[in-house]
Amino acid sequence: MTTDAGRRPADVRIAASILDSNLGALGDEIRRAEAAGADRIHLDVMDGHFVPNLTFGWKTIEAVRAVTALPFDAHLMISEPGRWTDQFLDAGCDSITFHVEVDAPQIRPALERIRDAGRAAGLSVKPKTGLAALEPYRDLLDIVLVMTVEPGFGGQAFMADVADAKLAAARDWLAPDGACEIQVDGGGKRETAEVIGRGGTDVIVVGSALFRAPDMAAELSRIRSIADAARRATVAG
Ligand code: DX5
Ligand code: ZN
Repeated sequence: MTTDAGRRPADVRIAASILDSNLGALGDEIRRAEAAGADRIHLDVMDGHFVPNLTFGWKTIEAVRAVTALPFDAHLMISEPGRWTDQFLDAGCDSITFHVEVDAPQIRPALERIRDAGRAAGLSVKPKTGLAALEPYRDLLDIVLVMTVEPGFGGQAFMADVADAKLAAARDWLAPDGACEIQVDGGGKRETAEVIGRGGTDVIVVGSALFRAPDMAAELSRIRSIADAARRATVAG
């Protein structure tokens, strides 16, 4: 399996979130995202406890692993990520990101376990959680995922104030070694791509804007090109 987390190519990458796809034909939906040019498949796992919604678990991920060679990017919105890390690794996730708001004792061991398995380890911050919460784990992070909606549901409105407060700050915070990537998740679409790109974002998670688009490939390409132009302008200037 491959992962591109930890490297920083110039182009913004798009992780297609299948949360609002047709889950009755999940394999086909993943192939559709791949054909449209997605760089990764983003898998939102919810336990009905950490967030007020339920989705799917490692068995579902394992079942669709073989349909694509694209990296599987798991986003665990569950209270006990430390309890399930091995299952998500065995299911074939290339990167695993969970939330810094979970009970703290499990965080460091889980990040270490993910890295020991040769995969990319990430922590996510909910909109109201400051980046300072990540500080104790800085040495173990390949991914910082900034939530720009409250986690739990696709199709919500992008929180521009959160993006303004956190994206450039995260870029600065990570600047010393530059090895960690910044993902933005929630409300990513053509109308928000400029703000996201301007913040120096490496990966945009896009769900409903892709799966509801009449032409997914055109939509994906549009979002990427807007974000890319904004990101390059920021890096250049
Ligand atoms: C929300 C999920 C997101 C969501 C993105 O809790 O983590 O990945 O599916 O969906 P859109 O792009 O519709 O906001
Ligand atoms: Zn997500």
